[in-house]
Order: sequence, then structure tokens, then C-alpha cells
Amino acid sequence: MVNVAILGFGTVGSGTAEVIEENSKSIALNAGEEIKIKYILDVKEFPGSPFEKLVIRDFSVVENDPEVSIVVETIGGVSAAYEYTKRALLAGKSVVTSNKELVASHGYELLQIACEKNVNYFFEASVGGGIPIIRPINECLAANKIHEIFGILNGTSNYILTKMITAHTDFYESLREAQDLGYAERNPSADIEGYDAARKICILADLCFGKNVSPEDISVRGITDVTLNDVEYARRVACKIKLLGRAFRLSDGRVCAYVAPHLIGKTSLLSNVDGVMNGIVVHGNAIGECMFYGPGAGKRPTASAVVADIIDAVKHREKRKPINWNKAEEGYVASADEVPMRWYVRTGSGLETIGKAFGNLRLISYPGEYPGAGPGEYAFLTEEMTGREGKKRLSDTGVRSLFPVLD
Ligand code: HSE
Repeated sequence: MVNVAILGFGTVGSGTAEVIEENSKSIALNAGEEIKIKYILDVKEFPGSPFEKLVIRDFSVVENDPEVSIVVETIGGVSAAYEYTKRALLAGKSVVTSNKELVASHGYELLQIACEKNVNYFFEASVGGGIPIIRPINECLAANKIHEIFGILNGTSNYILTKMITAHTDFYESLREAQDLGYAERNPSADIEGYDAARKICILADLCFGKNVSPEDISVRGITDVTLNDVEYARRVACKIKLLGRAFRLSDGRVCAYVAPHLIGKTSLLSNVDGVMNGIVVHGNAIGECMFYGPGAGKRPTASAVVADIIDAVKHREKRKPINWNKAEEGYVASADEVPMRWYVRTGSGLETIGKAFGNLRLISYPGEYPGAGPGEYAFLTEEMTGREGKKRLSDTGVRSLFPVLD
């Protein structure tokens, strides 16, 4: 029998406990041993919960108990979670987590400690909620040289954008619903401002390309400035607006990663990834293109990935699984501004100014007073140009929205 301690009994921690209890027999068959929750560490009490008696406050109880070989960190954030993860690994325990913030910022260091201690640090649930993506990258796609990965990585913002597209509901009402359904982070600014997706694309870039990409090194734009106007303009060119995280190799060996709202064509694989669902597309030189799709947030989907990691940790107690995540050299991460892309632009400037700045562009019609114009504004698609070039041309054009196009 394997004893597990769960740190943090919030949405994911309690979901993990429920799944372990509910599926205990099949989990034991898959793991080869019974899995028992010995402790739950939390600052709160949980009167009436079936797990009430397992709740403790003091992490050193877990740390010093030789019977606990796997610690599940579902606290979130980087303060207590970082300290406890480090202490658990140093005490020779494997750690399983859903904490993308911690993995994105300290994953390299924590994996080094796990390696020194011959234990595992697993984080399948940190990206894509219940979607298997970390293990497929590390194992099933290990034969490939991956050149690009991109996807819808945040369920809350996808839920909000889907509502704006399909029901034309207001941003804040949609956000409230996503929070009520338990998809949003405690502080939803990480969801709507793109930081959650940034952490996830960095983790994916770390694993796909083998070297560390920090969230601070990449450009991040969320969905707070996407308007119903943008949604309508996008519809008129057979596109949807989706928040994408994207990472790819450049020909000089550097890696570029960024998060931004994109106009994506309705024929794109990601175009029908709606609501809280996430979709991740991987391009590898052997497999070609493949896509992973599923629930990117929520209690039980995330718990599904956490428990799978626990099972894997049980099966790899003697021989740890190596993860290819190395230190990056200076200058490894290229700025997204250097990469040529097509752009969607919405601006308050007149046609003459826009024409001078952009030359060849595709104007998008709006159901306004005259063709090609909304009330006092124009929207158009540019030819391919770098973000740096686009911003230069836009400097005098009163830009309201500027998103890359991926169709
Ligand atoms: N808040 C996150 C999301 C939860 O909406 O995707 C899963 O990481």
C-alpha cells in the first residue's frame, strides 16, 4: 500500500481525494498497489467531509513520515507550495502537482532536486486540465523533433470568448459564470490577462524544445481588450477570436513563445474548441500535425490527471522517469515581435491614413452606414509583417485592436 499526502484541499485537492476513493479498486489495479490518503494539509477545517479526520496543519508531519512516499501539491501559487515541494523532494518523496505557476517558474530547479534524490516530479495536470499532453510530449512523441506547439490553454478565457461569440453576452457576466463553475483561478486576472496561458505555453515549450523558457521572457496579452466589435469583424472574415499560447523553433535554434488573442479561420482544428474545452496542436517531424482536445479546467478533469500522475509515481518509485528540461543559454528566447505574421487591425483612423501606412490591406465590412466601415472605425487584415514593423506603421493610426491571424 502506498500512502499519499494531499497539500491543499481546494477544488483540485478535494477532487483528487474523491477520485482516489471512488475509483480505488481500478486505481489499485493500474498502480499495482492500493493507494491510501494518509494526510490532507490545509489551514481550514472540513466539518462533515468524509476526509475530515485526515486534516493536519503542520507540513513537517508529512515531511517526517517515512510511510508517505508521494505528496500531492494542490495549494497553488509559489510561496508555501514552493517551500513544501522542495522539502518533500529533499525528504525523498515524489511530488505530483497541478500548479502551473510553480512548474513554470521553478520547474527546472525542482526537477534537478528530484533527479538528485531519485524521485519523480510530475505535473500532467498543470497544462490542459484533464487532457493528456505532458506525458504524450515526453513519451509518445519522444521520437519527434517538435517544431511548433500552440493551443487554447485557458478554459476560463475560452468560455468567455465563446459566450461573446455565440450569445453576445457581456465579458463580466461570462466571467462570473466561469467563476461560479469553478474554472477560474482565485484571482481571475491570471486567466483573462493571459498569465495562466503563458505559464502553460512555457511549460510546453520547456518540454518540447528541451530548454527553459520563463513566463517573464515572453510577450503576453489576454482577452480584456477583445470587444464584441472584434468578434463581429472576425465573423465577417470567417474567423473566430481565440486566446492562443504558441511556441515554435526558429531556424537559428532559438525559440519564440507568446500568448495573444488570434483570429483563427473557421476551418482550423482549434476553431471548434469552445467553452471550457482546451485544444493543443503539436507539429512534429515524424507525426506531422496532431491535436489534443478535452476539458482544460474543472475539479474532476484536473483530478483525473493528478491521480494518473500518482499512479505513475507509484509505478516508478525504484527507477525515476527522466524529463528533458535543461538550462537555456542567454538569448535563447526570441521576441515574438521578430516573427512575420498577418495581423487583424481595428482603428479609429481614416482610410487615407491607413492606406498610407499599410498599402495592400483587406478591409472588413461592418454593418454600419457605409460598406467597409463601422461607426467611426475601420478593421482590416494586413499582409505578413513582423509585429515590430506592424507597430511602427500603426504608431499614427489610433489603433484599437491588433491581433495575429492564424488561418
Ligand atoms: N483557470 C484555469 C483555466 C484552470 O481556466 O484554464 C486550469 O488551469
